Amino acid sequence: MLILLLVSTLLLINLLRTMTNDLPFVFGKAAEGEHFTDRTQETEQLKMNFLHGINSIIISPRRWGKSSLVAKVADQVKDEASIKVIRMDIFGCRTPQDFYKLFATELIKQTSTHVEEWMTTAKHFLGSLVPVLTTNTDPYSPFSLTLRPTVKDFCEEVLTLPERIAVEKNVRLVVCIDEFQQIGDFVHSVDFQKLLRKNWQLQQHVSYCLYGSKRHMLMHLFNQSSKPFYKFGEILFLERIPLSYWKPFIIDRFAQSGKKISEAVVEELYQYVDGNSSYMQQLSWIMWSMTSHEVTHEGLELAKSRILEQNQPLFQEQLDKLSAYQLHFLHAVADGQGDRISHKEIIENYDLGSSANVAILKKTLISKELIDTFDSKLKISDPILHHWLQTTLFHSL
Ligand SMILES: Nc1ncnc2c1ncn2[C@@H]1O[C@H](COP(=O)(O)OP(=O)(O)OP(=O)(O)O)[C@@H](O)[C@H]1O
Ligand SMILES: [Mg+2]
Repeated sequence: MLILLLVSTLLLINLLRTMTNDLPFVFGKAAEGEHFTDRTQETEQLKMNFLHGINSIIISPRRWGKSSLVAKVADQVKDEASIKVIRMDIFGCRTPQDFYKLFATELIKQTSTHVEEWMTTAKHFLGSLVPVLTTNTDPYSPFSLTLRPTVKDFCEEVLTLPERIAVEKNVRLVVCIDEFQQIGDFVHSVDFQKLLRKNWQLQQHVSYCLYGSKRHMLMHLFNQSSKPFYKFGEILFLERIPLSYWKPFIIDRFAQSGKKISEAVVEELYQYVDGNSSYMQQLSWIMWSMTSHEVTHEGLELAKSRILEQNQPLFQEQLDKLSAYQLHFLHAVADGQGDRISHKEIIENYDLGSSANVAILKKTLISKELIDTFDSKLKISDPILHHWLQTTLFHSL
């Protein structure tokens, strides 16, 4: 019965996957297979790290392609008998306890070959956590494994789990943790980081690949000499995918469905979204879905207004939470005044208070990931928010 359920679930998942692969563009999830372009050098570099047990940290602005890159490399090494890649996303973890439970659960699940093995693996490797198996209605994940602690202190047992599994199964593990910046928000975060580092650096058969969506929080964790994770591994700063890769990629995706787009339109799109990978795919999708034959410059203009419209409620909600000074600051940056922000005339024109206030505003907006330095210029992090701010500017100033 269990086998039957498993087989039908796998068939359904494959069907859904095939349907997704038919789409010319993807966004909102990792780009894989034919939806993935470039990153050849980064793929090689990360693959070498995976194969040779070197810890990696991947940092880039939002939605440039960290998770997609890790997914690609994990896929490339999946046939290596001596390596097993474990992937987890700790976005939902708010406490160390959440982290330990997720970490242990994913390790158990992903190092077992089938569901029946989850329970035996968990019982074999963990004494302080009792496994419980439940069924779900979700076809993508019909079973859940929950680990219930029997004692208060189970952290060392969990943190040493990868090494113990690796040694017993005679493989090397690469543990990839997405949204790793979450640990920076835990209470007593530095103590927690010390504990992770202390355990992980002793492991001979396990390496870690750590990445996440908040560039500044990750920089704080990895780039400050006072922090436990300083020099934990090789830091890969992901760059934009160059236009020279997007041109053939997008033109090809259109051509495969009998549609056309010119190099000039792709170029214009790239400028508009400042090379952001996710928006390149999303706007291409909008243009593709709105045209039956060939996308023109007008098609791109329509797609731009569509994306601005779609994002409007989201942006509005984000900005509603800001103070008047913070809003003024954003408008100044959207107006291209980022580099002159502390000039007297900009402070006056945009009503930013004092120069001391400007410094505080800048720090706060960076920590909210609303602004950032790109190509040595202070810019609005989200390129579509940048355009939206420009169109909705309180140009009453
Ligand atoms: N190599 C690639 N080729 C084509 N498109 C890509 C590539 N990498 C990323 N994308 C596009 O960008 C989107 C976001 O990618 P991904 O989720 O990997 O980025 P991320 O950096 O992990 O994002 P976040 O900062 O939110 O964690 C994908 O859904 C896809 O549309
Ligand atoms: Mg990601």
